[in-house]
Amino acid sequence: MGTDHVRLMQRRALLSTGAGAALLGLVHPSPSQANQSYRITVAPGQAPLTGPQRRATDVWTYGGSVPGPTLRVRQGEPVSIVVENGLDQDTTVHWHGIRLPIGMDGVPGISQPPIRSGGKFVYEFTPPDAGTFWYHPHANTLQQLGRGLAGALIVEERSPVPVDRELLWTIMDWRLRPDGQIAGGFGNRMEAAMSGRIGNTVTINGVVLRFEGHRPVVVAIDGQPCDPHEPKDGRLLLGPAMRADIVVDMQGEAGRRYRVIDDYDEDLQYSLVQLAYDGAPPVRTHALDAPIRLPRNSVPEPDLASAERRQLVLQGGMMGGGMMGMGTAAWAINGMSMTGDGHAGMAAVATLELGRSYVLSLRNDTAWSHPMHLHGHSFRVLSRNGAPVPFNQWADTVLVEPKQTVDVAFVADNPGDWMLHCHVTDHQTAGLMAVLRIGKAGKG
Ligand code: C2O
Ligand code: CU
Ligand code: CU
Repeated sequence: MGTDHVRLMQRRALLSTGAGAALLGLVHPSPSQANQSYRITVAPGQAPLTGPQRRATDVWTYGGSVPGPTLRVRQGEPVSIVVENGLDQDTTVHWHGIRLPIGMDGVPGISQPPIRSGGKFVYEFTPPDAGTFWYHPHANTLQQLGRGLAGALIVEERSPVPVDRELLWTIMDWRLRPDGQIAGGFGNRMEAAMSGRIGNTVTINGVVLRFEGHRPVVVAIDGQPCDPHEPKDGRLLLGPAMRADIVVDMQGEAGRRYRVIDDYDEDLQYSLVQLAYDGAPPVRTHALDAPIRLPRNSVPEPDLASAERRQLVLQGGMMGGGMMGMGTAAWAINGMSMTGDGHAGMAAVATLELGRSYVLSLRNDTAWSHPMHLHGHSFRVLSRNGAPVPFNQWADTVLVEPKQTVDVAFVADNPGDWMLHCHVTDHQTAGLMAVLRIGKAGKG
């Protein structure tokens, strides 16, 4: 990797599926590699997850690779992506974090009929926000994501971010059998009621990245710019589906290597990747003298004075004494258990008025952490257990720890039936999912 004093921006997507192994992809930026039209085939393929010596792992791929191709597009310009389904089952593609019309959101039965085996669908939208986003299926999600279907979607800023080099790290976790093939047993009822499917190396609830000898500055969360800040204790916490854009001044010593360590779980600490310096002289002797604050996107600012409050209580899961009595569902939101991946006719847990500001109060009454995700919007993260969250953080996915209440605020400006669910897919499909209906345009 680079040398001394390089300001390096890392755009990073964490994609969690529920099995362990980290994949890193590197992208060198040039002013723009954006393209506004893509064609992707979803199909079985193979990936060398366990190294060149061993038989490649059978996976499901976007465009033949895992993760799928990185789609780079320009902010504010129409995009068209043709998706062809070469699997022998239905699929859809969800553009996670993009504020787009409901019909392009990829939820089967709500946004669109599923793409049948051998069929195709053309996704067309104009991304309003620059940032780091990702795409994944919203049909048979547990298995399709768990077999490798995920990719990064980078919406480029109108003028390039002043950094020397840009890298993209996509972290996926896998559960592999000893022979290197993906373990079956998706949707195991016991796991669904507990932590969800956990991989061999990366835990599903999150990774905490600690940069040896370097001080990362977070400049965006879930694609949305925040006040640039060094994360608390130098540790960057990412739950499933979350992204962080960070800027690092590469001030290490020539010839040395520095580890980036994940120590979310102290007992499962491992080195995710190394920052290796070559012996060449530094690219520059002083840190790049450019502002690292990213230009703000056009997300509407909620009016907190007039905002209406809605409480959403996360319930269920395996507690000390056993499963809560909710039939086949293990989880619920406000007593309602929506299971699966989304389907027609889902009842709304709340109906919101188009254009109004809302505070959603997410209260976790369970013993497990839940990365709660809202489709079609970005929200301001206001507080955790009443303590204000600093640095103007916006997100589309927020980690709600056990016994925690997290307040988020947003303007309900996008009409439709929008999914709100835990991004631990096991939890989502076992009931930790709801629909927020915004405006009269909501179907179903
Ligand atoms: Cu990335 Cu419905 O989720
Ligand atoms: Cu989403
Ligand atoms: Cu969860």
